[in-house]
Amino acid sequence: MTKPFIQDLVNDMTLDEKLAQLTQLGPYYWGLDDTVDLTGPFKELNIKPQVMENIGSVLNGIGARNVIELQTRHLESSRQKIPLLFMADVIHGYRTILPIPLAMGSSFDLEAIERFAEIAARESAAAGIHVTFSPMTDLVRDPRWGRVMETSGEDPYLNARVTESMVRGYQGTDLKEPGRIAACVKHFAGYGAPEGGREYNTVDMSTGVLREFYLPAYKAAVDAGVAMVMAAFNTIDRIPASGNSKLLRGILREEWGFDGVTIADFNSVNELVPHGAAQDGREAAHKSLAAGLDIEMMSTHYLNHGAALVEEGLLDISLIDEAVTRVLELKDALGLFDNPFKDADPVADEADKPSAEHLQAARELGASSVVLLKNENEVLPLKRGMKLGLAGPFATSIHVLGGWAGAEKDPAVSLYTGITGKIPAADIVTAMTGELGSMLEGVFDVEDHAEEAFEQLKDCDVILAAVGENQHDTGEGGSKASLRLSANQEKLIRRLKDTGKPVVTIVFSGRPLELAPVLDASDALVQAWFLGSESGNSIADVLFGDYNPSGRLSMSFPYSVGQIPVYYNAYQTGRPYDPQYPNVRYVTRYLDIPNDPLFCFGYGLSYSSFAYSSFNVEAAADGRVLASIEVENTSEVTGKETVQLYIRDVTASVVRPVKELKGFKQVTLAAHEKQIITFEITSEMLMFYGQDDELVFEPGDFDIMIGRNSGDHATQRIWIS
Ligand code: IFM
Repeated sequence: MTKPFIQDLVNDMTLDEKLAQLTQLGPYYWGLDDTVDLTGPFKELNIKPQVMENIGSVLNGIGARNVIELQTRHLESSRQKIPLLFMADVIHGYRTILPIPLAMGSSFDLEAIERFAEIAARESAAAGIHVTFSPMTDLVRDPRWGRVMETSGEDPYLNARVTESMVRGYQGTDLKEPGRIAACVKHFAGYGAPEGGREYNTVDMSTGVLREFYLPAYKAAVDAGVAMVMAAFNTIDRIPASGNSKLLRGILREEWGFDGVTIADFNSVNELVPHGAAQDGREAAHKSLAAGLDIEMMSTHYLNHGAALVEEGLLDISLIDEAVTRVLELKDALGLFDNPFKDADPVADEADKPSAEHLQAARELGASSVVLLKNENEVLPLKRGMKLGLAGPFATSIHVLGGWAGAEKDPAVSLYTGITGKIPAADIVTAMTGELGSMLEGVFDVEDHAEEAFEQLKDCDVILAAVGENQHDTGEGGSKASLRLSANQEKLIRRLKDTGKPVVTIVFSGRPLELAPVLDASDALVQAWFLGSESGNSIADVLFGDYNPSGRLSMSFPYSVGQIPVYYNAYQTGRPYDPQYPNVRYVTRYLDIPNDPLFCFGYGLSYSSFAYSSFNVEAAADGRVLASIEVENTSEVTGKETVQLYIRDVTASVVRPVKELKGFKQVTLAAHEKQIITFEITSEMLMFYGQDDELVFEPGDFDIMIGRNSGDHATQRIWIS
């Protein structure tokens, strides 16, 4: 029920005031500098000063002081005293930068992820931000796409759980509470599947695939009470999402019951024109408003054409009224009519440093996001007192916050600083660290420095090779066709191996890279992602065993870029490949590379070892189907295991994936401790979208799988009716 005062405001507004309320502009238009990169065309929009008095929201963080000043000015000039909403991209933290979301997904630690969102909310609320354009919950199977860093990976179940945790963490139960901000889930829908992994490219998929894999996480956000939804740049079934009524009205509002605010992506209403879906801005405004897109971001077709569309009878005013009502309701839910500055606090926002508590949380989440991919001869954990060699462009680099790193006020902790902070007297030799740019871009040639460097490193007990991709190669507009480390870095790792010393390769990246070329030369391989402010400390904790690695890949790591898309929950084909018969030709396979990724979804090692036994699936007396397995820590160190449940529907009316993650449990076991882990197989886990796009359950055989990752599990078949 709309509150009477909001109804009164809407009734009192002129059409132009309503259209301004549905427009979002960057701070530049109020005469303030943009402090955050603009990610789209920036142009003079010829906005009249009196229109600015009624604009509804501001894009990007500008700091508490500016927010207070702008809000004050705005309220002085606004006829109805409707406060501005301040929205920004707080993707993995505001002041305290936490791991990139792809890394956070690899922690599988939902409580820690919720806590991360609370921290991000608290800090951005102090900066005057009311809404974050997060979580980005786009499922992605193609690591060539730069924005893969901002998602939690390839799995609908994991994405959905991470999404809910983030929405809860940002919003709490009451947006008015101090330190809470509204979440805006994005990009609805399917933005994570651009053809060829190329940014802004066409997305095209069947409705079944859309519903089965791509929609569940957005739906989870809606079910968790997300306040806003951002429409994607891409097309869905040939219609741009920003003018797609089937999506924005049909699925989002009618089917899922979403009653919050929808917003365009940057300039995406205008982009209906270059898409060829509208002949001009007027038609673009018409299509987007009719489709149920409430706020237009960084283009002004609602402002410029909305009134004429209504006056000419092409657009029902009720559509505009509904959209405005939703925007005002969000402002009210945030308490802005009572306190338009909400939590904006220049003192907290301008503090010298992020809080120690927040940094500690970032350090812990960082450590739990690291994935140990290889550890031959137990080269890790490192022992204190070892003589360490440290080489590679990320050895001393502080450029490891990861894309979308908020205000970037504080440098990240480098690997070198992390190690020496932990062990001040560490015997550590650095060589060929190079400047990040020069080594990555090939200006610095390893061969030119090799002899001298090897001379320095040859007495070390272990050599750490800190390699990766430039953080600016990730995020929006960061698509790449090659996923290999630069030739220089691959050469570096091989040359380090030639010293005869164990080599620990530590990979800093915002995406799965192609690591097969350096696998043999690496005794240990550590996926360190971009972990944010505390990066070096988190990695050092893992390297020295102060944190026993527990990360599990949220996305498959391809053996070769030629396999992409390679993901674990693929549909069964009519000619499956059988590894027992590797030379059979007429099956689905590559002649030159394996079908399987180098490292599969859910994979990750620990310094502990875990044995699985006594797998049992049975129908209990009360009719519930229970699957249980005993997990034992067979090592001498306490460790955390992520026990994963996968299910396959063996025969159905539509083809089903070979397996789908349906649950996971994290368990910490002391040395030699055992625990039985039980999952209840619910009917919801067995349902799927049938031929009519309805959720159905079909009785039959199901393979129930429990294990350590998507490629290593026990399987039992059971008939469930
Ligand atoms: O929120 C982002 C979106 O993810 C990509 N385009 C720009 C928006 C606002 O900065």
